[in-house]
Amino acid sequence: MESTLTARDKVGVQDFVLLDAYTSESAFLDNLRKRFSENLIYTYIGTLLVSVNPYQELGIYTMSQMELYQGVNFFELPPHVYAIADNAYRMMCSELTNHFILISGESGAGKTEASKKILQYFAVTCPMTESLQIARDRLLLSNPVLEAFGNAKTLRNDNSSRFGKYMDIQFDYKGIPVGGHIISYLIEKSRVVYQNQGERNFHIFYQLLEGGEEELLAYLGLERDPQLYKYLSQGHCAKESSINDKNDWKTVSSAFSVIDFTEDDLENLFGILASVLHLGNVCFEENHQGCATIPDTHEIKWIAKLLGVHPSILLEALTHRKIEAKTEEVICPLTLELSVYARDAMAKAIYGRTFTWLVNKINSSLVNKDFTKKTVIGLLDIYGFEVFDKNGFEQFCINYCNEKLQQLLIERTLKAEQAEYEMEGIEWEPIQYFNNKIICDLVDERHKGIISILDEECIRPGPATDLSFLEKLEERVGQHAHFQTRKLAGPKGRKRIGWMEFRLSHYAGEVTYCTKGFLEKNNDLLYRHLKEVLCSSKNRILKDCFLVAELENRRRPPTVGTQFKNSLSSLLEILISKEPSYIRCIKPNERKEPSKFDDLLIRHQIKYLGLMEHLRVRRAGFAHRRKYEHFLQRYKSLCPDTWPHWHGPPAEGVERLIQYIGYTPEEYKLGRTKIFIRFPRTLFATEDAFEFSKHQLVARIQATYKACLERRVYVRKRHAGMCLFPKCNQSTCAAITLEAHWRGALARKLAKRRKWAVWTVRKFIKGFINRNKPLCPDNEEFIVFVRKNYILNLRYHVPKNVLDKSWLRPPGILENASDLLRKMCTRNLVRKYCRGITAERKALMQQKVVTSELFRAKKEGYAEALNQPFANSRIDEGDINPKVLQLISSEKIQYGVPVIKYDRKGFRARERQFLLTQKAAYVVELAKIKQKIAYSALKGVSTSSLSDGILVIHVSPEDSKQKGDAVLQCEHIFEAITKLVMLVKRGNIVNVVQGSLRFYISPGKEGTIVFDTGPEEQIYKDKNGQLTVVSVRTTSS
Ligand SMILES: Nc1ncnc2c1ncn2[C@@H]1O[C@H](COP(=O)(O)OP(=O)(O)O)[C@@H](O)[C@H]1O
Ligand SMILES: [Mg+2]
Repeated sequence: MESTLTARDKVGVQDFVLLDAYTSESAFLDNLRKRFSENLIYTYIGTLLVSVNPYQELGIYTMSQMELYQGVNFFELPPHVYAIADNAYRMMCSELTNHFILISGESGAGKTEASKKILQYFAVTCPMTESLQIARDRLLLSNPVLEAFGNAKTLRNDNSSRFGKYMDIQFDYKGIPVGGHIISYLIEKSRVVYQNQGERNFHIFYQLLEGGEEELLAYLGLERDPQLYKYLSQGHCAKESSINDKNDWKTVSSAFSVIDFTEDDLENLFGILASVLHLGNVCFEENHQGCATIPDTHEIKWIAKLLGVHPSILLEALTHRKIEAKTEEVICPLTLELSVYARDAMAKAIYGRTFTWLVNKINSSLVNKDFTKKTVIGLLDIYGFEVFDKNGFEQFCINYCNEKLQQLLIERTLKAEQAEYEMEGIEWEPIQYFNNKIICDLVDERHKGIISILDEECIRPGPATDLSFLEKLEERVGQHAHFQTRKLAGPKGRKRIGWMEFRLSHYAGEVTYCTKGFLEKNNDLLYRHLKEVLCSSKNRILKDCFLVAELENRRRPPTVGTQFKNSLSSLLEILISKEPSYIRCIKPNERKEPSKFDDLLIRHQIKYLGLMEHLRVRRAGFAHRRKYEHFLQRYKSLCPDTWPHWHGPPAEGVERLIQYIGYTPEEYKLGRTKIFIRFPRTLFATEDAFEFSKHQLVARIQATYKACLERRVYVRKRHAGMCLFPKCNQSTCAAITLEAHWRGALARKLAKRRKWAVWTVRKFIKGFINRNKPLCPDNEEFIVFVRKNYILNLRYHVPKNVLDKSWLRPPGILENASDLLRKMCTRNLVRKYCRGITAERKALMQQKVVTSELFRAKKEGYAEALNQPFANSRIDEGDINPKVLQLISSEKIQYGVPVIKYDRKGFRARERQFLLTQKAAYVVELAKIKQKIAYSALKGVSTSSLSDGILVIHVSPEDSKQKGDAVLQCEHIFEAITKLVMLVKRGNIVNVVQGSLRFYISPGKEGTIVFDTGPEEQIYKDKNGQLTVVSVRTTSS
């Protein structure tokens, strides 16, 4: 945006606020000239628009231009009257406030054109409904009608508005123009009867003559040539090349039908216009008594016909005057001069009042009959400041009006701006400006002002003249600084003021007024006699304008000056309640020439339009200000903290917002209730950001809304049992219904399960908490569950065999039960085990039991030997010598094992077989039985506590058959001894000794065996002749 700004700024600056030398009038003028030379006629001072009349068509009022400015930020595009219009319109729509656009400038500066452009802009760009198009057309077409009756060619302007106009355009809540209302001010009636050289009467007369159909003119008794009419020819320019009366007539005629004028209305209206022209041509002659007469009554007849009055009464009224003397009325003839006055007064009166009627008629067609609340934009196109060579009562009124409007401007901008900064606590330097209230007071102060003095002079008894009025002024306001007359001026100033003149120092400059005609114009007197005639008129319009009640009212009507003063003050009241926009129009030259820039003329206008002061104030201040609430409301979407709602005070919200969007401190100031933004560019940037975010928000809202609508339709269809898919058939519908029911059933089931689950979990937790309490409803189920669970679990953890000692750890409450179960289980296992073993294995087991009883914890190597199963025998019968078998054939060999036998004396080792029968044990060497030990003779068996395999079989020394104890070494010592013990059937024969043992060799002789441990197994005879047995210590011992 910055770049486009720069491009636009190429020709001077488009906003005077951006001017460096903003206090210099020359710099101001230069900028205006620079732009004007490039046909850039518009420049801003902040939000005020300065417009220079180009006097040529520039092609800047096209449809595309209108579209361009529609809804765009004020400062975003080059200055234009459309921007002002659009800005007022947007503000009105968004804040629902009333506005007015004050267009001022001197005659010919382009005010009326500007107001027309604005009206067209609204007509084209505002939303519109068909039914309201009529209202729009009426608003547009009221203009040519009003211009025809109220505008005239003057020296300064070919289409000069000779009345002030304030027009309200009413908009409904949607921003559609629905109606309007027009107030007119002070129509310049004197123009009806007199025009200066080079000027014309009101356009309508010429249009009627030029464009009216033959029959119409014939009906009105008129000729086409305007030169034939005195009221039209005094300015000597009835025909003007720049004005096309014929075309204008067509426009006006067609406009009449749109704004509700009936045939009857038009007939009466044209009748009045024609009678004015006829009146102008009424000539008077002086008879010998010095009284006026009308020699040719041709015109009188026409007037009488057109106005519906009696010709002779009219004739009498124009040449006589009724004077009321106490109870009777006296009719006196008029002098020629007074008759002319009476004639002109009648013409002015009927034209003036008809104009008022016309405005009322237009208003009634613009009125909007619906009484809902409307907002309005007012357009004020009012005469600009006028300074002519000769300035009369009209200029006095016009310039007074401009003083009042300047006052409004001061109130609303300069003064208000300063007051606002003060109120908001914003630091700034006060601007010196001239307050023209003093001049307004000079003119309109009650009992003291010029208008009051003039009124007094008008009603005062005795001979009052314009001169006596001037003297009164000198007497009453002579001391005023802004008032001057020839008499009051010093010798220097004297020359420039005439004897009949007074000079006022207006805010815009000095203007000298000639008092000639002041009294007459202020009085605006219409002789009673003429008034009576007009009151009796059959012309409907005149009937409305001249009411009989007026005749009966003996009170003097208010003077023109006072009426004007009052209407101005009510105008100001209207304006003060609205938000202002200003357009200041400047006329570039006096000759209506395009591209001519008259420095002097423009400098003067810059001065009296107060543009420099306005710029100074604007520059010292801020380009934009807004109430915190409004600012926040508009831009809150730009900051996440303030969107969608800010709940704190608006001022804080604004602060947060501007911090977020990055305003620098020099760009703004925060007042008490408003934010002040210094540069326009800051505002554009914010507006741009807002526009962008607005689109995003709209898209989001739209999406949500659409979704909402779709959902509603969907739900409705579903409730109505309708199919959601346009193309599906009945069976699909049925399937969808079934599906829906099935899903419902599933969902219900799931819900039930979940409910159950919740209930169960809750119960479980409660049970767990109360698990150690005695059985109660709270833990009952939990305990059942725990029990069941434990038992079920136990299934998988019961010991698999008798030796398996593992057991599933029980919960506290089940300890007793667990013990019982464990015992049962063990018993069961044992029983099962026992039942599973064979008789043979049982015998072996019994032997093991015997071994256990003999050696457990007594002899080393027992534990290791335990796992080795016992054999029935270690020697097969085939390995036993048959002789031996034969020798002991009476006894069955129960067990045999190879052994090593040690000599009792020399301890020599000999391999032998050790055989056991039921009766005796035998030591056998091959075919010989070396020793037979009958069990009856067996005294005992000894073995050591160590892991050696030595066993000594003790025999009884008394037994002579025995050779002595047998010292044997056997590899299966536990097995051999066990077998022996079981055969002997005496448990106590086994003796496990420690250290050594003694044995019987022969009667009276004993040997010793010493047991010891060492690194390796050894058996040897030691020095003492003892048998030493060394064994290795087993790990288990
Ligand atoms: N914006 C414009 N573009 C072209 N011509 C213009 C423009 N404004 C004014 N004029 C010309 O200047 C003439 C006088 O303008 P007008 O609006 O009647 O002046 P004012 O109402 O101030 O007396 C118009 O008739 C027209 O020819
Ligand atoms: Mg005008």
